[in-house]
Amino acid sequence: MDKSYIRIFDTTLRDGEQSPGATMTKDEKLRIAESLAKLGVDVIEAGFPAASPGDLAAVQGIAESVGQSKIGSPSGEPPIICGLARAKKRDIEIAWQGVKAAVRPRIHTFLATSDIHLEYKLRMTREEVVAQVREMVGFASSLCSDVEFSPEDAGRSDPEFLYEVLAVAIAAGATTLNIPDTVGYTTPSEFGALIRGIIDNTAGLDDSIIVSVHCHNDLGLATANSLAGVQNGARQIEVAVNGIGERAGNTALEEVVMAMTTRETFYNKKTGIDTTQIMRVSKLVSSCTGMQVQPNKAIVGANAFAHEAGIHQDGMLKNESTYEIMRPESVGVAESQLVLGKHSGRHAIKSRLQSLGYELSDDDLGNAFTRFKTLADKKKNITDADLEALVTDELRKTSQLWALADLQVSSGTTDMPTATLRLKDPDGEIHVQASVGTGPVDAIYNAIDQIVGDHGTLLEFQVHSVTGGTNALGEVTVRVESLQENDSFFNPQSGAGTKRSYIGHGTATDIVVAGAQAYIAAINKIIIAEKRDNG
Ligand code: KIV
Ligand code: ZN
Repeated sequence: MDKSYIRIFDTTLRDGEQSPGATMTKDEKLRIAESLAKLGVDVIEAGFPAASPGDLAAVQGIAESVGQSKIGSPSGEPPIICGLARAKKRDIEIAWQGVKAAVRPRIHTFLATSDIHLEYKLRMTREEVVAQVREMVGFASSLCSDVEFSPEDAGRSDPEFLYEVLAVAIAAGATTLNIPDTVGYTTPSEFGALIRGIIDNTAGLDDSIIVSVHCHNDLGLATANSLAGVQNGARQIEVAVNGIGERAGNTALEEVVMAMTTRETFYNKKTGIDTTQIMRVSKLVSSCTGMQVQPNKAIVGANAFAHEAGIHQDGMLKNESTYEIMRPESVGVAESQLVLGKHSGRHAIKSRLQSLGYELSDDDLGNAFTRFKTLADKKKNITDADLEALVTDELRKTSQLWALADLQVSSGTTDMPTATLRLKDPDGEIHVQASVGTGPVDAIYNAIDQIVGDHGTLLEFQVHSVTGGTNALGEVTVRVESLQENDSFFNPQSGAGTKRSYIGHGTATDIVVAGAQAYIAAINKIIIAEKRDNG
């Protein structure tokens, strides 16, 4: 018997389903059970069959399908399919109905052992609890050779009484003793000591009996407590995917598994989990339960492999081990993300642009970086599309003549739309103009025309959002038609007096500003064309 092998008992479908609002349909439970089998969990607690006919049907369905197939199981056998039962004859019978079709069925029965539960919930004496455990574990093992017993609220139970109850459970046929910290009350050192005490003091507890831990996360200690249990001799951990479960949830599967995998030489334990499946199962559970994973959740949160700080991004680009203790691929995440935001540095921008296929000169990169910082002050996360829009805009500006220096617009339902703008001419001089119009864009374009002169007629004005959300970058494209007396530079065959149209683009979080930039860009092209045509 390999004592370093830690069994992963998944209770997503039972304790996890006890999360408020996390009810799943039978089909969803089946899909999750299949993916848990592929993930390589050793035991699937498929439900609490006596709770409802629907629960029973789901457990039976899982026992008949996943419980008979061999997909992904670490031992090459189907996973154990387990059904929960109170230590009552009827519950145990129904649990057996639920799991018996599985190749490897398990009945998991429980009875509380803490004085608080005995006095207020069960209204039983310790002697009565001992007698009921003896009888009901005995009954369960008369039906099923694999019986797990849990002394509910073990974390707050008198350890001496626990040793007595657990010894009775072993004598009655229990093969797994699961120790629940039902209300998430213990600390890692206390819980570790509890497990050690149980292993050292329970009569009949030899290597054939598996000690298991089942921790709740009320104080955020479920993972730490479970690992402390393992360090003190537990050989099974009960978990739920994404840490869902009653109240603050159960120990998160992904956390304990990745702790033991990443710190292999520290814990010296192994599991049968194919860690590359973790993200896939996390997403499935989240979509079936409707419980979103918090972005900063360890291992499976959207930010778990995202780096924003400039210093971190710089380190990551030099060597991932600077800020990453596990590779995202090892849990099924495609790759680390360098999130571009206001903390990002020039190196990160350059590298992302290179990966997008842009090789910029130092000057263009410098300008794009300045614009990136301005945008990052207004918009939290800068996407690749934002970045591309900034850069292409920067590249288009190489032939800039007139440039927008400042713009104020006033518009609404009552006032006349008015634009006041400052334009910088090719010599760097600032020109100020105010104008009214039928709308804000008309007012801006009138003001621009009054400064630069009338160079053409606006034919088209198109706006599109480059990225999603109200803080997205908007791109404006305009087409301006110009009558050129001599356009031989562009089309030597066409002669004088030809009408030509010029496209201008502008990109900004404010589409009115983008509209001004687009118009100026088109006018600049016309001016260049006029200059060339006129020699
Ligand atoms: O938290 C708990 O005590 C339980 C038991 C039924 C094992 O979920
Ligand atoms: Zn529980």
